[in-house]
Amino acid sequence: MSDLVRYEVKDRVAVITVDNPPVNALAPAVWALIDQAVARGVADANADAMVLIGAGTTFIAGADIKVFDTLKTRDDSMARSAGTHALLRRLEDAAKPLVSAIHGNALGGGLEVAQACHFRIATKDAKVGQPEVMLGIIPGAGGTQRLLRLCGVKMALEMCTDGKPVSAAKALAAGIIDQIVDGDLLAGAIAFAKTKTQAHEIRKTRDLPIKPEDVSGGVAACEAMRAALAKTARGASAPFAAVNAIQAALTLPFDAGSVRERELFAECVVSSESQALRHMFFAERDVAKVPDIPKDTPTREIKRAAVVGAGTMGGGIAMTYANAGIPVLLKEIDDAALQRGLATIRKNYEVTMSKGKMTAEQFEKTMALITPTTSYGGFDQVDIVVEAVFENMDLKKATFAELGKVTRPDCVLASNSSTLDVDEFARASGRPSKVLGHHFFSPANVMKLLEIVRGRETAKDVIATSLKLSKKLNKVGVVVGNCFGFVANRMLAYYMREAYLLLEEGASVPQIDQVLTDFGLPVGPYGMQDIAGIDVGARIRQYLTSIGKTRAEGPQSAIPDRVFELGRYGQKTGAGWYKYDAPGSRNRTPDPLIDRMAEEEAAKRGIKRRPIADEEILARIMTALANEGARVLEEGYATRAGDIDVIYCYGFGFPRHRGGPMFYAETVGLATVLARVKEYRARFGDYWEPAPLLERLVAGNKSSFEG
Ligand code: 3HC
Ligand code: NAI
Repeated sequence: MSDLVRYEVKDRVAVITVDNPPVNALAPAVWALIDQAVARGVADANADAMVLIGAGTTFIAGADIKVFDTLKTRDDSMARSAGTHALLRRLEDAAKPLVSAIHGNALGGGLEVAQACHFRIATKDAKVGQPEVMLGIIPGAGGTQRLLRLCGVKMALEMCTDGKPVSAAKALAAGIIDQIVDGDLLAGAIAFAKTKTQAHEIRKTRDLPIKPEDVSGGVAACEAMRAALAKTARGASAPFAAVNAIQAALTLPFDAGSVRERELFAECVVSSESQALRHMFFAERDVAKVPDIPKDTPTREIKRAAVVGAGTMGGGIAMTYANAGIPVLLKEIDDAALQRGLATIRKNYEVTMSKGKMTAEQFEKTMALITPTTSYGGFDQVDIVVEAVFENMDLKKATFAELGKVTRPDCVLASNSSTLDVDEFARASGRPSKVLGHHFFSPANVMKLLEIVRGRETAKDVIATSLKLSKKLNKVGVVVGNCFGFVANRMLAYYMREAYLLLEEGASVPQIDQVLTDFGLPVGPYGMQDIAGIDVGARIRQYLTSIGKTRAEGPQSAIPDRVFELGRYGQKTGAGWYKYDAPGSRNRTPDPLIDRMAEEEAAKRGIKRRPIADEEILARIMTALANEGARVLEEGYATRAGDIDVIYCYGFGFPRHRGGPMFYAETVGLATVLARVKEYRARFGDYWEPAPLLERLVAGNKSSFEG
């Protein structure tokens, strides 16, 4: 038997060990070898029962996700699933008791294999789940048919629609597993199997009756779940397919229900939703791989941190460290500023507590990790400093010069600047190899993205340490180059410019926002600015003008500055692109004043306003993003197109089921994207300039940014 699946007999129990590191994914060969091993166990006169277990840190984490890319049509999927379903039926029909022994994770196909075994036991820290919806699919190896026979419809619906794994304790209480093993899992599994050596003790999950309460109330539970998903699963279709498959289990015999599951799975696996979500699965893991930074680059453990500046960002960053259990010094210029910052932090935690997401005890413990200070005392003890003072080059340079003196030579010095040149701070610090950008997104304690900005001299171990730290901080760290706006904000400038120009040309603020929210973004460009503060962008423009630059070349609408000059900074002032009931309110109404401004600015620029179709709004905004993304990629400021997608999904809530702006461009077709750039150039002017990479890829007949 191959090394992927090992077979041995211990104490008259056949032990079948899946050994496909790192997560024992079910590659086609693994499925086949499990099948063969079980057949061997049944035929083996020296074995009375069988145990299926995983080698390494986990049981089986699911089907090999890469294999789904080979399923190009519904028929491909139907053919493959016919084989998988038959295989699991053979396991279930094995004439000797078969016990799965779970540690780590039994996920997706892993849990489905376990469901086809006659018994399931697990370690107490094991987890089981059906996370397929996160990949835009549904359990496709009988999970929607067998799971509810073990745990009932309500829990099966929850597990298959939210995709979250459940603990061994919960799985035991629900009947998904039969026993929790203390101590050595294999020894426990063998002991358990030896109590089930008689053929009559075989329990086939597919033969278990649907629970009486589900016979009467199961379909209603499915209806209720559909109604709930209509509100929570915006834009996603897989959770609804999972409900349909579970309903089929309630209303059809097992075999017919299984066919329905296979059909629904097949529709999902070829959908653009699933392709996008699978792309995101791997893109998220790829961001940790930086080509010239080997995996074994030494990293330093960050045990203590300091944050300079307790404003909007500094406070959120200090919370992020404290939430991760890392003690953090929080420095301000004076006590008044410090108290303001601390009050905001306290208020944020109080909101978390009021939602039941934090206990009073956790609050006290977390707050105790934040040490307020107005001096640099104690900075010689920290492993990292994050600077979050005002966005001002002279101030930042002075701060880094000071930090270079008050911290240990090996301390990492990170700046949260969103626009300024990291290399200048690096020089000011006197030890540039330890300096880089840690660009958090607002609110820093909530948003998952961390752009790790690599300066010219940043040492490799500092980048590797930052990547490792980002995981500990519960962030997704993406390494980017040091260009203006880095990746997220550089591309955003093109997104916003197009939104402004569309407004001048005849679209309205609510229309543009609606198009983007219908596409799946949580908020449109104008709504987003009203939340972030119109003054923030205006000050960046002022700074750029002062140094003779613009964020995105080409025509700039004057409307944003006019809105700023009126003191309309967004929600905080009660008016911005929309009118609000009161400062701080989220209750908004469109403001005719903005339309009048758009008319005036259009007249000044000689533009005849016209009705603009929603399709054009979406196409222009997405084309602007993809074209600039292609430039970012070609200039090397992002490592992969997938990195840009991760940045957009985590930084701006770009819908995951669209796969990020670069993947979305690939689904539209790179040739179409290029044709649109050229069309817009002809219609709107030379500011639309095709990215050379895009032109080359299309000329080479390539369909992906990775060539
Ligand atoms: N298929 C292929 N590769 C997988 C995989 C899978 N199911 N699960 C993980 N991997 C790969 C990752 O891409 C990564 O590769 P890399 O090192 O080259 O980047 C490596 O395994 C390690 O993964 P993580 O970095 O995610 O490791 P963690 O320890 O952080 O997490 C995990 C482990 C919780 C198991 C996590 O990997 C995970 O959630 N995996 C996916 C689980 C899943 O979605 N299963 C369902 C698959 S679909 C299915 O089973 C359909 C069925 O119904 C037929
Ligand atoms: P802010 O104005 O809310 O806070 C800055 C704080 O720094 C103030 O409380 C000020 O008193 C303090 N400060 C100034 N000099 C100091 C010093 N020498 N020592 C200690 N504290 C000092 O500013 P905000 O919005 O928090 O921005 C901070 C940085 O984060 C800027 O570089 C900004 O570009 C960046 N950023 C801002 C984002 C946002 O949405 N606000 C998003 C991402 C980055």
